[in-house]
Amino acid sequence: MRMTSRSLSRAALASTLLAASLGASLLLATSAGAATTLGASAAQTGRYFGTAVSAGKLGDATYVGILNREFTMVTPENEMKWDATEPSQNQFSYSGGDRILNQAVSTGKRVRGHALLWHQQQPGWVQGLSGSALRQAAINHVTQVATHYRGQIYAWDVVNEAFADGGSGGRRDSDLQRTGDDWIEAAFRAARAADPGAKLCYNDYNTDGVNAKSTGVYTMVRDFKARGVPIDCVGFQSHLSGSAPSDYQANLQRFADLGVEVQITELDISGSNQAAVYGTVTRACLAVARCAGITVWGIRDSDSWRTGENPLLFDANGDKKPAYTSVLDALNAGGTTTTPTTTTTPTTTTAPTTTTTPPGQGGCTSSVSLDSWNGGFVATVRVTAGSTALSGWSVTTTLPAGAAVANGWNAGHSGTSGAVTWTNVSYNGAVPAGRYTEFGFQGTGSADGITSACSAS
Ligand code: G3I
Repeated sequence: MRMTSRSLSRAALASTLLAASLGASLLLATSAGAATTLGASAAQTGRYFGTAVSAGKLGDATYVGILNREFTMVTPENEMKWDATEPSQNQFSYSGGDRILNQAVSTGKRVRGHALLWHQQQPGWVQGLSGSALRQAAINHVTQVATHYRGQIYAWDVVNEAFADGGSGGRRDSDLQRTGDDWIEAAFRAARAADPGAKLCYNDYNTDGVNAKSTGVYTMVRDFKARGVPIDCVGFQSHLSGSAPSDYQANLQRFADLGVEVQITELDISGSNQAAVYGTVTRACLAVARCAGITVWGIRDSDSWRTGENPLLFDANGDKKPAYTSVLDALNAGGTTTTPTTTTTPTTTTAPTTTTTPPGQGGCTSSVSLDSWNGGFVATVRVTAGSTALSGWSVTTTLPAGAAVANGWNAGHSGTSGAVTWTNVSYNGAVPAGRYTEFGFQGTGSADGITSACSAS
């Protein structure tokens, strides 16, 4: 249609008025509390908004500028994986992970640890192991890495991608799975013993809707909760193409109803509906009280592992995409306030062996819980102060014949078999009256029948 000069000036006036009124409503929205960054808007309902970070990009000013402006949670994309942290057996390398953690903490962000055990990105030396040698190497890895980062990780992906794709609902065949079905719970127990303050998550992909695979995970989590295996959260990676499953929110909710926190851990979305699907996923998390937050798997499209699919919130120049606005608007529209789960105190084991010294003896008591498998075990020892506070303690564990300590954490020790004496380290000698601290060790053989005795020092 051709416009006359009069209709042009009317159109100009109308658009000026429209702009003025839009401006007013935007101002109103802002003054009513709408936040202008992902992290701040997620925080309004008690949630975090995170991203995967690559250590190699921390020198890129555009990247770091967006990271610091928008995000409140960080997941190292590759730097805390097994190949990066233990390139040779028992030789640990934390430089990349530490770099990301320090950058995050110094700018007020928290960190999701990713991933203690996974069938991919294993160092070469692991590939030569099987059976109990692999099991022990895996548990040692969990213990050492979780101990290194003790007290600094919001949540760990303890085990990543252990379920098979397709309709079986069963475990994925992998080197770790071949060490026995209980490898996952052994990993969670070792992680809890090493870092009691971190939430412990199981993380997987293609579990975003209700399907055979997610139901397999659901059944495992329900079983863990019933038996007291320490698990606090489930991660839904959400690498989506074109749409989200129609039962995405219902799936999150059924896991939340088991009493675990749910987290969207590696979100990226391809396809022409990208902005709308990002909005749908964000609203689903907001509608589930135990959905603690969302992490996208990279910052700019050019940072994504999905080369050429442009699945992220910022373009290669670092400019916000329509998907960004869709997420921000959804966050600002609000949702349920989160009711995050707290980590339970370390408990339990299948068939725990517990020995307790008489109350009051030596000013402290001790008890041992065992997680055993054929040929090895992890022992968690709890040291409880009596009616007066402890300023130091030692515990003697007496191992049965054939059992030996391979390595320990949170205590120094003398001896490896028979009577082994454990002494507090600098940060856990002081225990208030009636409270407890824990240390642990991994060993070979069977520790059934182990006893312990505690004394104050
Ligand atoms: O750093 C080396 C570089 O020195 C070398 O020149 C180059 C040659 O290929 O490789 C570089 O390492 C690559 C690394 O990413 C860093 O870019 C690895 O080859 C590559 O395999 C690795 O890919 C990572 C992938 O996990 C490994 O499976 C992706 O960055 C990472 O985004 C991706 O993340 C996974 C999650 O951990 C678990 N869920 C699925 C998700 C996507 O696959």
